[in-house]
Amino acid sequence: AYLQKQDDYELMANISRFYQQQLKVATDKDVAINYLKGRGLSGEICKRFGIGYISDSWDGVMKNFGGTASTNQQLIDLGMAIEGDKNRPYDRFRGRIMFPISDKRGRVIGFGGRVINDGTPKYLNSPETRIYHKGQELYGLYEAKQANKNLQRLVVVEGYMDVVALAQHGVDYAVASLGTATTPEQLQTLFRTVKEVICCYDGDRAGREAAWRAMDNALPLIQDGYSLKFVFLPDGEDPDSLIRQKGQQAFEQIIDEATPLSQFIFDHLLAQVNLQTAEGKGALIESFQPYLTKLPASTLKDSILTQLANHFGHSNEQQLAKLTKSFANQSATKPK
Ligand code: CTP
Ligand code: MN
Ligand code: MN
Ligand code: MN
Ligand code: MN
Repeated sequence: AYLQKQDDYELMANISRFYQQQLKVATDKDVAINYLKGRGLSGEICKRFGIGYISDSWDGVMKNFGGTASTNQQLIDLGMAIEGDKNRPYDRFRGRIMFPISDKRGRVIGFGGRVINDGTPKYLNSPETRIYHKGQELYGLYEAKQANKNLQRLVVVEGYMDVVALAQHGVDYAVASLGTATTPEQLQTLFRTVKEVICCYDGDRAGREAAWRAMDNALPLIQDGYSLKFVFLPDGEDPDSLIRQKGQQAFEQIIDEATPLSQFIFDHLLAQVNLQTAEGKGALIESFQPYLTKLPASTLKDSILTQLANHFGHSNEQQLAKLTKSFANQSATKPK
């Protein structure tokens, strides 16, 4: 047991090394290795992402890193142990493949653990702690930056396995949002890192809804030169399953042909109204309001407005001027 208290980051790094080592020495390591192999992952890619394993026991981490009141408390604080009865904390993660989550400097701040084969919950994640703030981190961002000195674009996916499988197939610029919705803070980080972001969520209802929310959260950040695009996968597919079937080239072609934000908005909002009626036309304008007011003045915004005016059958200057005025960016024009 470690008797001396370590820095939080140091401790998390050591636990991550321990999990990785378990993949080599645990008595049931073959179960884990075979699972990872079965998912198409090489030893090299597992190493790049620091993937590890912990056998199903109550004290794998406790035994090695706890033991004193202060180390036990630190493990609880960092989400690695759960406070049990009578001051007997036990391991949070048991019998799982472990994915370390790094911050943008590469420091391990949390973990995601996947059950092997079936079992619930499928993924167990670190709780919010003093060093891990879920909505602010992007899984794989550090690794993507390490792999690309000159990152041009980032693909945002839902899951750990998506990020790792994409990297395994040469798409080493994917990150995961670690939850269903990509938060405003995550989008800010993304657009501080690159100018082009492509959301590629699962091809199910949750994935499509996540795309719309990401679009809404990103609007204030889309200035000239920045773009947000969307890939809609077939129902039942995710980036991992797709790249394993089709390979890097086909996947990157899908990325290259992603739906631009403007088209996503039009497709979605036009489908909800009947433009043959005056009511429908009014409803269309109404429905654009909350989105367009969030978009800063830009060439994109101008072209969306022009396109919107065109949907009224006559592209008239007056209509356009009226729209432009009513959809002016509120944060920019609202008097204080
Ligand atoms: N997730 C989670 N807890 C769950 C299920 C999902 O935290 N019980 C998160 C994980 O980050 C997961 C992501 O949501 O990676 C996407 O979930 P899902 O599509 O269900 O899992 P996959 O990533 O596709 O995992 P796998 O391919 O291993 O089944
Ligand atoms: Mn903090
Ligand atoms: Mn899903
Ligand atoms: Mn998935
Ligand atoms: Mn999957």
